Amino acid sequence: MKDQAEKLRLKMTSLSKNNAKTIAVVSGKGGVGKSNISINIALLLNKKKKRVLLFDFDIGMGNVNIILGKQARLTLSDFLYEEATLTDVVNDTHEGFSYIAAGNGLNETIQIDERMLARLLDGLRELQQQYDYIIFDMGAGASAASLKVLLAVDDILIISTPEPTAITDAYSMMKFICLEGAAGNFFLICNRADTERQGRETLERLKQTVLKFLHKESVMLGVLPEDSHVRKAVINQTAFTTAYPNSNISVKMETIVQSYLNENNLGYKETDSFINRLRRFFFK
Ligand SMILES: Nc1ncnc2c1ncn2[C@@H]1O[C@H](COP(=O)(O)OP(=O)(O)OP(=O)(O)O)[C@@H](O)[C@H]1O
Ligand SMILES: [Mg+2]
Repeated sequence: MKDQAEKLRLKMTSLSKNNAKTIAVVSGKGGVGKSNISINIALLLNKKKKRVLLFDFDIGMGNVNIILGKQARLTLSDFLYEEATLTDVVNDTHEGFSYIAAGNGLNETIQIDERMLARLLDGLRELQQQYDYIIFDMGAGASAASLKVLLAVDDILIISTPEPTAITDAYSMMKFICLEGAAGNFFLICNRADTERQGRETLERLKQTVLKFLHKESVMLGVLPEDSHVRKAVINQTAFTTAYPNSNISVKMETIVQSYLNENNLGYKETDSFINRLRRFFFK
């Protein structure tokens, strides 16, 4: 009897424990808009009263702070060189969301060893308790460490443009992470479309190819147009949804975030699974 009560108590504790939903924003081809999309998703989720941590995981080549016009007090390199804990390198913003800057000029060949991994896991476990969403903005291609994160996250947002090269690379990336045993759900976004129809066709093609050859479902989240406001916002170091909230792309971005949240509410949120999966992928 006592055993039953103990089990129930443990179950209740784990259910009530907050665990951020983890999202990775990825692409095959570089420069398709991942960082801009990650930043604006973070801002819009924050506007919806969600607690958001944006994690720039483009180690050594980070640009989230540059696009946002912010100076990071500490960056991921301070953590990797053991000069700070992961919580220490979290920067708060006046908008309300938090971010970890990837640092610049870091030696890219830095080896993520077991000790570092253990620290990263501990840090992420702690941060998961404090946020509703952790968004990883991934660099182009996949490094050993970023691949593990990609495999372990709950949701994977794939960004492609309508260019055949971007679509092929997006598919190759999805194939690679599928074969490696990715746990997450696939969500597709087409960026820089000339028309809504062109964007839809791009997503449909990608979705059908993934279903046919990888036997995996993916959710088409939406289409973002080619819009000169993005470049203007980057030059002015402000997020486009902040600088031009009524522009076509900002309105579409809001629809995408709402669609994502609608899909999310349908889903069941496991507790602690991200960390467990990460541990398995790191130490296998
Ligand atoms: N919808 C858009 N309309 C017009 N220009 C865009 C759009 N999206 C992105 N861009 C342009 O592409 C550039 C690259 O965007 P971003 O840095 O977000 O891409 P990325 O995928 O993160 O690149 P990387 O692979 O190097 O990390 C932007 O600075 C902007 O000039
Ligand atoms: Mg980027």
